[in-house]
Amino acid sequence: MASKSKAKRTKSKAAAKKSARKVVKLAAKKPAGKAAAKNGAPRPSSKPWGQAGRALDGVRILDFTHVQSGPTCTQLLAYMGADVIKIERPGVGDITRSQLRDVKGADSLYFTMLNGSKRSITIDSKHPKGKEILERLVKCCDVLVENFAPGALDRMGLTFEHIHKLNPRMIVASVKGFGPGPYEDCKVYENVAQCAGGSASTTGFRDGPPLVTGAQIGDSGTGLHLALGIVSALYQRVRTGRGQRVLCAMQDGVLNLARVKLRDQQRLKQGPLTEYSQYGEGVPFGQATPRAGNDSGGGQPGWILKCKGWERDPDAYIYFITQAPVWAAICDLIGKPEWKTDPDYATPPARLPRLRKIFDTIEQWTMTMTKFEVMETCNKHDIPVGPILSMKEIAQEPSLRATGTVVEVDHPTRGQYLTVGNPIKLSDSPADVRRSPLLGEHTDEVLRDVLGYSATAVADIKASGALSAAEKKAEAA
Ligand code: COA
Repeated sequence: MASKSKAKRTKSKAAAKKSARKVVKLAAKKPAGKAAAKNGAPRPSSKPWGQAGRALDGVRILDFTHVQSGPTCTQLLAYMGADVIKIERPGVGDITRSQLRDVKGADSLYFTMLNGSKRSITIDSKHPKGKEILERLVKCCDVLVENFAPGALDRMGLTFEHIHKLNPRMIVASVKGFGPGPYEDCKVYENVAQCAGGSASTTGFRDGPPLVTGAQIGDSGTGLHLALGIVSALYQRVRTGRGQRVLCAMQDGVLNLARVKLRDQQRLKQGPLTEYSQYGEGVPFGQATPRAGNDSGGGQPGWILKCKGWERDPDAYIYFITQAPVWAAICDLIGKPEWKTDPDYATPPARLPRLRKIFDTIEQWTMTMTKFEVMETCNKHDIPVGPILSMKEIAQEPSLRATGTVVEVDHPTRGQYLTVGNPIKLSDSPADVRRSPLLGEHTDEVLRDVLGYSATAVADIKASGALSAAEKKAEAA
């Protein structure tokens, strides 16, 4: 989990090169004889699970991302085994290196938690020599990922047409705030996307303003979408031999995650949304999907209820779902066995106008126990509930450590820190979760080993100023 030794890295690089050659060979000609099955695909590996390399071994990513959306995508690809080379502006690097800094002089958690398992090289993309190096990288990478403001990549001279000419196999993947249309030129951050994608207008309480969520569905959510687009394009390239553009607009990504609210928008035409508590409270619906507080987004009513200690602990709550098949068990547990047969409570439609009273009654019961006691009791009866876990509790949860979802890594300047490992578990591709690189840590290594520059050429490049900060060049001049 911690940083790899140089020897290990060299070994895995050699393995990556070998498997890259293998991928190219597979695409180029049909495997024959013993190595191939009848359908032309390789025979199933006989290696033990998890020892047949990683899913994206041999894929090299030119990572031109910054802040959160793009880095989320490339970090996932790195966890899956891709060689991710992050290009950073000399001197400063990704702006998040210094944003929300908690340890003086060290890269922030904002940066370190989004850039694990990558290599970092500094290049001034506007310097002539820097452009030359970038073009060489374009020729030997499989995917370029970027999330600059609209037009920035083109202004660097890296239009899709130019990239495609340099390397027809290159996949060019971008996150933008909006897709083509009236807002395509806008710069966009997380909360702008949450608002434009329909999440904010449908989040919060009916009598309050729109709310943004704590989960970064605009940034990290779009990064996830982009990663899927990239692996799909890599798969298509095996057949077509050529790359393509992949575009994920943050507005689209948020809308995709908020699709149940567009579902409800259309249902409104047929009448009130009966599972929303506002229906039971007799509040008329307007023209658009309303905010629904903590109502469940599905067909089974749910709400957040207080548990023992709620007066002192802001997270002493539990999400409680009154799933129809376990209604009888709920009635018994909360001391209302008569509700099982009472026509006002016995069926889901009868309960809809009474949800407030039902949840108030259940809450009287949940308040007698801690959220974990409620969870334990309800689970015995198959009643779906979810304790509201604080980030402190999540950081300490042993099962999340055991599965590699929460990982502790070591860092040379900030010491140990927690990061979120790969939430996508592949049975034959163990996640490769390593610390984030220091700014330009792998500049020499990439110039030498990936681009084949000699030691003298590397020295000349450095002297040209293409890899150093503008202020330093000015001082030198
Ligand atoms: N060398 C030289 N210049 C570099 C460079 C390098 N290695 N890397 C970046 N730059 C330059 C770019 O060329 C650009 O210059 P230009 O505007 O003169 O062409 C400049 O740095 C800044 O890029 P930009 O993307 O505009 O950064 P920003 O800080 O002004 O805006 C965002 C940040 C996130 C708002 C914007 O990038 C954006 O809207 N991105 C798309 C949506 C997105 O991903 N948003 C979520 C972010 S989590």
